[in-house]
Amino acid sequence: MADLTLTGKKPSTIAADALVVGTCSTSDGVAVVADQLPARLVEQIESLAPRLGVTGALQEVRTVPAGSDVAADVLVLTGLGEREPDGTFDHETLRTAAGAAVRTLAGAADAVIALPAVDEAELGAVAEGALLGAYAYTRYREEKAAGKLTPVTRLQVATSMYRSARAKAVTARAEVLAAAVQGTRDLVNCPPNDLYPAAFADAAKAAVKELGARGVKVTVLDDKQLVAGGYGGIAGVGQGSSRGPRLVKLTYAPSKATSKVAIVGKGITFDTGGISLKPPAGMLTMKSDMAGAAAVLHTVVAAARLGLPVAVTGYLCLAENMPSATAQRPSDVVTMRGGKTVEITNTDAEGRLVMADGLVAAVEDGHDAVLDIATLTGAQMVALGNRTSAVMGSDAVRDEVKAAADTVGEPFWPMPLPAELQAGLKSNVADMVNAASDRAGGMLFAGHFLAEFVGDTPWAHLDIAGPSYNEKAAHGYTPVGGTGVGVRTLLGFLEGRAGA
Ligand code: BES
Ligand code: MN
Ligand code: ZN
Repeated sequence: MADLTLTGKKPSTIAADALVVGTCSTSDGVAVVADQLPARLVEQIESLAPRLGVTGALQEVRTVPAGSDVAADVLVLTGLGEREPDGTFDHETLRTAAGAAVRTLAGAADAVIALPAVDEAELGAVAEGALLGAYAYTRYREEKAAGKLTPVTRLQVATSMYRSARAKAVTARAEVLAAAVQGTRDLVNCPPNDLYPAAFADAAKAAVKELGARGVKVTVLDDKQLVAGGYGGIAGVGQGSSRGPRLVKLTYAPSKATSKVAIVGKGITFDTGGISLKPPAGMLTMKSDMAGAAAVLHTVVAAARLGLPVAVTGYLCLAENMPSATAQRPSDVVTMRGGKTVEITNTDAEGRLVMADGLVAAVEDGHDAVLDIATLTGAQMVALGNRTSAVMGSDAVRDEVKAAADTVGEPFWPMPLPAELQAGLKSNVADMVNAASDRAGGMLFAGHFLAEFVGDTPWAHLDIAGPSYNEKAAHGYTPVGGTGVGVRTLLGFLEGRAGA
């Protein structure tokens, strides 16, 4: 991850590869949003803006020579859109603009960022956006190609708060958060021949080991232990693969916990659909079907690194959904952890099966709230597109998740669990089916299925099917591929519970 420091020096006097400043659009045209730049340079940029193609729009990034009055080589102009009525910029706008600028700096060594950062919230947003934008997945590239993609390594954020202890705490938090998001992206981007359930469990152990004495305990159940323990959902989905399923439990239990929260993640390391095989095009992105579990792992790690006074238990429900002679069939009936039986009507609705076992385990262990996060349904993308995640469940926890998402700047939208869809659960042979015969409300039906396994425990279900994996162009601080979505919202939820 890029190294980030704060500086109180005048940005134009710092030697660096690049100096990042904001532009915005006003009724008088483009304005440069940096009060410490040489006036002549600011006038030049503002008057030449039309010819430079600079409009100040959010996501617009233009690089121009810095001229002799600035110590950096180039100026990176990043658009901030329009000012808020009070003259400031929205925090998500700052995060986006910082990320968009830093993404263009790949291959450069160092940069100074002079975006508005006069209070903690602004500084945090700028630091987060910059760190999140400094990402590339280069593990499978030869060295030369990797070099060109390598993100900027050193970032200096100019802020009048550079000396304050609060500013240091804000940047330390941004670093923990960005590391968690990047770790999640790395897991999602990892090809499924190298990331299978046992490998994921090892990655979880390694991530926790790196924490040292900060106290996260890891336990792993393998395929035999899952069968013996009655985890029929995870065992059933995993039985078609030569690489067996796992259930990983991560326990962070600080001594002065104000609340005890469980987070359950879907970790299908590859989803072929199983015997209800997906068409090739629908399978292309299915290495990302473990994005929920990756987010859970890194949220628990981040909570421990931040020392949040909230007990957090993470459950990673890991399996590979493959078609084979040993695979689960449509019409099989499986007994889930806790004893409920499920008739498998579609082996491609595997996520809810592994999640149900994870939810039962979380409820058994006793928590004040249970959250789950999963790339659960294609219907999520039909409903909300590729950037907005869904949240449903008990009203209070659902609203608490939505509020946390709003605070951290991740788009989430609350969804209902309409009572009439529950009828679709009816099976002629078992307690319920895993897939309804009717496609209408597919995301909400999946929510109903999960609700069967949480009892009275306050619960929210986060469906991140679309937003977890960016198949289109990079934007703001979001790269192509794994996005790490959910980590910031989950962490925000835990911080809320901590009263932070
Ligand atoms: N992993 C998929 C959902 C998904 C689809 C995530 C596209 C991201 C992008 C899930 O396991 C699945 O296949 N769901 C089925 C359920 C259906 C068979 C009831 C779906 O949504 O089509
Ligand atoms: Mn599936
Ligand atoms: Zn799936």
